[in-house]
Amino acid sequence: MPVSREDGLDVSTKPLEPLNGDFEARIQQRTISLNSDSGGGHMVVEIPPGWTNPRGYCSATQDIYILEGDLTHGNEKMISGCYSFIPKGVAYGPISSEKGCRALVFYGAPYDFIRSEDHEDGADTERYRANQKTWDIPWEDPMKEMVEKTTFMDEETGKPTRPAGVLVKVLRWDKDPEEQIALVSQAPGCIDPGTEVHPHNECLYLISGDCYIGYTYDTKNKADKKTDTVITKDHYLSRPPGIYHGPVTTHSGVYWITYMSDGYHGIFKDVPEWRDMTESYFERASY
Ligand SMILES: [Fe+2]
Repeated sequence: MPVSREDGLDVSTKPLEPLNGDFEARIQQRTISLNSDSGGGHMVVEIPPGWTNPRGYCSATQDIYILEGDLTHGNEKMISGCYSFIPKGVAYGPISSEKGCRALVFYGAPYDFIRSEDHEDGADTERYRANQKTWDIPWEDPMKEMVEKTTFMDEETGKPTRPAGVLVKVLRWDKDPEEQIALVSQAPGCIDPGTEVHPHNECLYLISGDCYIGYTYDTKNKADKKTDTVITKDHYLSRPPGIYHGPVTTHSGVYWITYMSDGYHGIFKDVPEWRDMTESYFERASY
């Protein structure tokens, strides 16, 4: 289950490499994390204007989120903010991009693309979600559905909660294997004052805004402790189980797409110095 750890990757620093499969030339990708157990991973795919490719299917499940530009498969034109889930073996396409495209792709197994007019035998076509316009999905309180368990307590009521100012849209939540993909928004000035740690993989791609993370560390290894991490648009975090992270805040608000290899299970620990840390970030703010 473990993904590789990234504590604030500037995605543009990763090399552009060919995307594996029977694709026309010029489609490229930047691998941003790999899952050592499944052979899957996360990548940003880059497609030039005017690119086209015949129909086919992929050897892995794909969650596709358009960061910029357009991507058409079949009759579906995805634009920035659109999401598709394509199960392994489900044929899609032909594929094209008019203006070019940057797309975030979460894939669940080693990635290959096979040209075919038909689905692979046994492909689960029922689960195919062709083009979800994510702005049509209502924001929800994460405590309503997404957060199954948290040890973050409301000081007044003593009940589990999340800090005020967090909203979510769940895009996909499957049970076998358990995986949860969501959009998460944190309002400007929202502070999560402690650290949390998860028994599952947690990966976040920063779509827009800014984020401050006081500490990132692995208590088992005691090594590679990061302090005062600041990230902005097109940065990425990838945490295998057991990585503590927090306190967290944002000046201008932050918009994420998140991947978890389980429902959210956050174990929360107080950080006594959270106020000094977050206010030192606000002190540097330029509005
Ligand atoms: Fe977390």
